[in-house]
Amino acid sequence: MKKYLVIGNPIEHSLSPLIHNYWIKKYHLANSIYEKRKIEEKDLKNIFKEIKDGKIIGMNVTVPFKKLIIPFLDELDIFAEDTQSVNTVKKVKNKIVGYNTDRPGFGKTIDNFYSPGIMGVEAIDLILEGKNIFILGAGGVTPSIISTLEHKGGNIFISNRTKSKAEELKILFPKIKTLDWGKKPENYNIVINTTSVGLNKNDKIQIDFNDCGKDTLFYDLIYSPKETNFLKEARLRGNKTMNGQMMFLYQASCAFYIWTNILPEIDDEVIKLLDR
Ligand code: ATR
Repeated sequence: MKKYLVIGNPIEHSLSPLIHNYWIKKYHLANSIYEKRKIEEKDLKNIFKEIKDGKIIGMNVTVPFKKLIIPFLDELDIFAEDTQSVNTVKKVKNKIVGYNTDRPGFGKTIDNFYSPGIMGVEAIDLILEGKNIFILGAGGVTPSIISTLEHKGGNIFISNRTKSKAEELKILFPKIKTLDWGKKPENYNIVINTTSVGLNKNDKIQIDFNDCGKDTLFYDLIYSPKETNFLKEARLRGNKTMNGQMMFLYQASCAFYIWTNILPEIDDEVIKLLDR
């Protein structure tokens, strides 16, 4: 049996097995299965032994292990290196390589939002030169978001409840500006919620965005619930909104490609799997 795995803690909520097992079936990968496993940090050593021994073919990594697994890896891809964050692992020849597919997954989502590819032509690489981007949160996925947006030329402002965690991000991204929780930049073109506030339907971010321009995009990385209060309020103000569904699917499709050399189609059926 060819085993694929997502590790994390907590992990019950992960929809990765649903998506990857759908693609495993669709593309007729024989004797393959994708599972989820809740682990503790002390379990990492054994997991990497399973990968070395070929018992695990491919692995996804989620909170809180995206950085913690780096010492177990022989090589990092460029995105993992830039963000010091790994969400996909594969053994290549005799080396264990860490990849970051959140980074290109988010990049593709934001490119598509502003210029959807038409008639088979890919979306145009979005340019954010001179634009202000306001990021809420400084958790495990935030470096991937910053890296994408800085690469596109955006000015990044970050606010995290625990300010020191936002400050730490300056080691990797010296150009970012940090703000106290509750403060906003003077003007902003995109606001991105990377916090976990919104996972519960009644959660509310206590920041007033009524001063925003009407073209401001409000982006929430959360995809379940589909519309958090953060997005609902933005929609009611008449702003553009987007949830994390497509980013989740793109990061998964990149991981599937890394493991199998098949770039899976993001079809209606796979999108429907997330509608719950
Ligand atoms: P981790 O911090 O372990 O990487 P995460 O889920 O990736 O976990 O990140 C959680 C993010 O949501 C953090 O930015 C966290 O802020 P703190 O660093 O201050 O903990 C943020 N967060 C969680 N609950 C929050 C709340 N009630 N208000 C504001 N921010 C919150």
